[in-house]
Amino acid sequence: MQFFIDTANLDEIKEAQALGVLDGVTTNPTLMMKDGVSGDENQRQRYLDICEVVEGDVSAEVIATDFEGIIKEGEQLAALHPQIVVKVPMIKDGIKALKYFSDKGIKTNCTLVFSPGQALLAAKAGATYVSPFIGRIDDTTIDGAELIAQIRHIFDNYGFETQILAASIRNPMHIIKCAEFGADVATCPLSAILGLMKHPLTDIGLAQFIADYKKVNSVTA
Ligand code: E4P
Repeated sequence: MQFFIDTANLDEIKEAQALGVLDGVTTNPTLMMKDGVSGDENQRQRYLDICEVVEGDVSAEVIATDFEGIIKEGEQLAALHPQIVVKVPMIKDGIKALKYFSDKGIKTNCTLVFSPGQALLAAKAGATYVSPFIGRIDDTTIDGAELIAQIRHIFDNYGFETQILAASIRNPMHIIKCAEFGADVATCPLSAILGLMKHPLTDIGLAQFIADYKKVNSVTA
């Protein structure tokens, strides 16, 4: 299972990269806004800066919603850096664009996916990644992680190579459920990745080991 970080913040990306467990990055217009990155030029520079930090795929989202606009914007984004993956919304012209980019060998991430049917369409169109938004589904009182299991089942039935990129992850439990249900990638806030390592028994056990070591060794610190 690959770990992507879901942010446009360079410090968080560097911290996750330093952990040695980072495989890629996803961004979206809201994450750019949250990090105060405005204007096409600054946003493109931010994608380049992110590509300097990580070695894996970096999703950059198009704003256009018509076929020609998505193609123009997507080709410009893809030309920025070989690590850029063009993030395309799950709409009719988006599906057409996924097929176009797939035929051209440009990597894509189909975003805003909330149902198995949407995921199936994205896979048929040749998307590299499909992004089911599990946290936002949870917000509607439906278990979002179940969608990962459904998509996994469908993709495995037919051998689709489209990777399931679980998105809208809010906490460590989401990551565990995605791993159980066979997501290829989880894109997570840094807090959720760091949360995976926490366990009170680890802290208690470590404190005990250090205390016992000090009892039989002359450590002054
Ligand atoms: C990433 O690709 C998605 O845009 C992101 O995970 C959405 O997360 P949110 O539902 O927390 O905004």
